[in-house]
Order: sequence, then structure tokens, then C-alpha cells
Amino acid sequence: MPMVNRRQSLSTALIFPLLVLLSSVKNGNAGITSAFIRSEWPSVDIPINSEEFAVPKGHNAPQQVHITQGDYDGKAVIISWVTADGPGPSKVQFGKSEKSFDYTAEGTTTNYTFYKYKSGYIHQCLIDGLEYDTKYYYKIVSGESSREFWFQTPPQIDPDASYTFGIIGDLGQTYNSLSTLEHYMHSGGQTVLFVGDLSYADRYQYTDVGIRWDSWGRFVERSAAYQPWIWSAGNHEIEYMPYMGEVLPFKNYLHRYPTPYLASESSSALWYAIRRASAHIIVLSSYSPFVKYTPQWVWLREELKRVDREKTPWLIVLMHFLIYNSNEAHFMEGESMRAVFESCFIHYKVDVIFAGHVHAYERSYRISNVKYNVSSGDRYPVPDKSAPVYITVGDGGNQEGLASRFTHPQPDYSAFREASYGHSTLEIKNRTHAFYHWNRNDDGNKVPTDSFVLHNQYWGSNLRRRKLEKHHLRGVVGLLATD
Ligand SMILES: *[C@@H]1O[C@H](CO)[C@@H](O)[C@H](O)[C@H]1NC(C)=O
Ligand SMILES: *[C@@H]1O[C@H](CO)[C@@H](O)[C@H](O)[C@H]1NC(C)=O
Ligand SMILES: *[C@@H]1O[C@H](CO)[C@@H](O)[C@H](O)[C@H]1NC(C)=O
Ligand SMILES: [Fe+2]
Repeated sequence: MPMVNRRQSLSTALIFPLLVLLSSVKNGNAGITSAFIRSEWPSVDIPINSEEFAVPKGHNAPQQVHITQGDYDGKAVIISWVTADGPGPSKVQFGKSEKSFDYTAEGTTTNYTFYKYKSGYIHQCLIDGLEYDTKYYYKIVSGESSREFWFQTPPQIDPDASYTFGIIGDLGQTYNSLSTLEHYMHSGGQTVLFVGDLSYADRYQYTDVGIRWDSWGRFVERSAAYQPWIWSAGNHEIEYMPYMGEVLPFKNYLHRYPTPYLASESSSALWYAIRRASAHIIVLSSYSPFVKYTPQWVWLREELKRVDREKTPWLIVLMHFLIYNSNEAHFMEGESMRAVFESCFIHYKVDVIFAGHVHAYERSYRISNVKYNVSSGDRYPVPDKSAPVYITVGDGGNQEGLASRFTHPQPDYSAFREASYGHSTLEIKNRTHAFYHWNRNDDGNKVPTDSFVLHNQYWGSNLRRRKLEKHHLRGVVGLLATD
């Protein structure tokens, strides 16, 4: 099957924008199915003994180092790592200048088995009471094999705090994954919003499953040790494998990727929320119960009430599979969650929802299907200014390859779609404006491919804008008065 639905010659490239304009006059929305055809690299995992997965040198050297936000507001960090040879200390030293580690924090150690695989010693250490907007250096203590890293804390929670998030999904551990990761690392992104399906270790069997979780931990360390990755779980994290006696869902994932769920009063590490700079980020679990009355449903309703758009104007939701997607792969898998949560997302004016799962890129217009009525037959998604923009970024580059078949014709709700690998960035500028980009991995080059200005759903309205102008005016008057 061809990878795209329409091929674009030079002449159609010239008239294409005109066609878009004309058809958008006709039906309000006309999406683009990208004409880009990528030459697919082999979608195989990088061999296990490759340097991309190199074990750091030294006895019991800390490996698979990764960090995530450790509290609700961004003044704490959870540092995780693995030691293979022995439990060793679970100690981190840190400070504000290089080589001067003034503070020490103690963490915890766990280990587990998965079939006959025995994990290394998994350490988790919370460091809190950090200052905002500050670079910290940290050292994971392990005798001669200690290793040093750094990270930057976010600015204080503030409606106009600018901040850049990266969005990566369905990453895996192929050369395409490496390309995505390397391009992301040059993007200026300060924190990764990861939309599920991490290692694809479940494509292996028996002890190789655990071994591929370890290799993935070493693979992403190049980024995840230096900036927080905000985790959400996908279907490849479930790992329900009764043939080898493993039936506890998310076992590998939950042992290795802690989240600060208690800080948002969640009862599970699989769904939680954080606030960072000017954003309130809600992480949902597509593969945990979410229908009415379940813990996740109750928690989401409470969390949405805690959102204060005066402090964190940007309301972002992460989940693994998306509600609106027009790829043939996983078609309509998001319907169940749409039926449960869509009206909530609209009521609370969520700005954007990021998801993965489908191995292609797609962005929707603001649309909703909340009028759906199984009795009357009312059902078609309609333009809705209060609805979020839905963005699928399941194109990290895992071994399953691309989902290259989109449904025909492109539905009205679909603004842009393309089957190739890449990552996105969301550059929040202030309370009203954010610049969004999707970047394709184009055989060695990062190519900005789809971009738009995201206007804040709360502060973008006329009423709020007037209020904002008044607020600024007051600020100016205040300044004049004290002068
Ligand atoms: C965890 O480590 C301890 C100490 O080395 C060991 O005795 C135990 O068997 C390990 N547990 C698992 C579940 O691997
Ligand atoms: C759904 O449709 C039926 C049949 O037209 C109508 O009686 C009912 O009021 C509708 N329900 C809602 C919630 O709109
Ligand atoms: C917010 O940022 C945008 C884009 O940089 C800019 O045009 C706008 O004036 C800014 N608004 C305020 C209130 O600073
Ligand atoms: Fe998936």
C-alpha cells in the first residue's frame, strides 16, 4: 500500500494551497494528507551489544539514569537508576555548582523478577525543596564508579512563564528511535511529555523482556538523566504474559518508572497530574479502568476542579490512544474513552490532548461529538471552539514500523496527517500564545513539517483578554504610581 493518499507534483504543490482555501470555504475544514513519502529504514531493534546500549564502566556503576518531576509544582525531582552488581548505596549528592555537592539525599532500593529474569537493584531517590529556575548538579554515589549529571528546575508556577515541552511517543529502540531522540535533544525542549509505549520489550520472550527494558533504560539516559520525562503508560507496558507466568499488568514499567502520583491525590502511579511553569498536565491511563465510578474517573473529576487557569493557563492531557484519529490502524479504539471523558474535556476547555499508539502523525481541528445520542442517531463530530486540539505523536520509531494507511477520504476533523517518524515541541510563550511544531526525521535532518499557533482556551477568549488588558494596565498604573 502507498504510504500517502495523494501524491503531489510540483504543479499541484502550487495550486494546493488554493484548493485548500476553496474547499475550506465549502465545508469549513479541509485537512491535509501529506505527500511526503519516506524511505523506510529497517525497523529492527538496535542489536543488544551495540554502543547505544553500552553499560557504563566500573564496578556497580549506576546505569539507566532517568529523572522525573517529584511533586505537584516542580520543586522536587525523582532520580532513578539501576546497579547491576550489588545493592550499593542509594545515595545522591547534589548542589548548585559543579563539583560542589552540598546536599545528600537517601533513596530506596527494590528488585523484582520477570519470569526467570532478575532485575538489577533499582534505586529511587527523591530530592525536594529545590529552588525554581536553577541548574543543579548531581552525583549518584557508587564508590569509584560514581557518575555525575545535571538538570534545570522549571520557573515558578506563573501564568506567563514560558517553557518548552517536547512530545515523544511509541519510541522503542531502533535506529529510527535513535534519530527521533537525537533530533529531540537539539530541539530546545526542556521536559519530555512521553505518551506511552516505551521500550517495546514485550516484543521479546522470556528473559529477553527484562533485558530489553534494561537496554532501553540505557538508551534514553542520554536525555532522561538531564531533563524530566513525564511518563504515561501504553499497551506495550501491560505485559500480560500468562504463557510465562507473568500476569500482573505493568510490572516492569511500575518498578522502573516512578511518578509523583501521591502529590495529586491519585491512588495509582498510572494516572496523576503535575503543574510545571504555566502548564497543568494531566496524565491518564488508557489501559486502566476509566468508566464512570472507577478510581480514575473519580480522580479526574477532582483534579479538573483543582485546575486554576489564572495560575496555570495551559491545560494539557496525555493519554496513550487518541479519541480522534483517522488512521486505519487502531481505528476507533479511542471511542470508549471519548464516550466517558469528552464532555469533561470540553467543559474544562482543555487546550490540547497528546497521544501516541498509532505510528504516524495526525492533528485535528477543534471538534466534538458530545451530541452523540445512540437513540436519535445524532453523531457526526462538529466544529467546537471549546474542544481540545487532538494530536497523535505515535511516531517515535519503534520496531513495528509505520502505520501508513489512512482512511479515505480524510475526515473533516483531520487537519494534517503524515506517516513518518518524528517528535513535537510545544513552546509556551505566555498565557495566550504557544507555538507548536511537529518535526519529521528526514534521513538525518530534522524538518519542521506541521506547525501552528495555539491560542489558549481560557485566556484567548475576548472576556479574558479584556481582563488581561485591565490587569496589565493596572500593572502599568501601579508602576507609574510608585515611580
Ligand atoms: C533482591 O536482592 C536480594 C539481595 O541481593 C536477593 O536476596 C533477592 O533474591 C532479590 N529478590 C528478587 C525478587 O530478585
Ligand atoms: C436522545 O434521542 C432520543 C430520541 O430522539 C431523545 O428522546 C432523547 O431525549 C435524546 N437524549 C438526549 C440526552 O439528548
Ligand atoms: C504573548 O506572546 C505572543 C507571541 O510571542 C505575543 O505576540 C503576545 O504579545 C504576548 N502577549 C503578552 C500579553 O505578552
Ligand atoms: Fe500503543
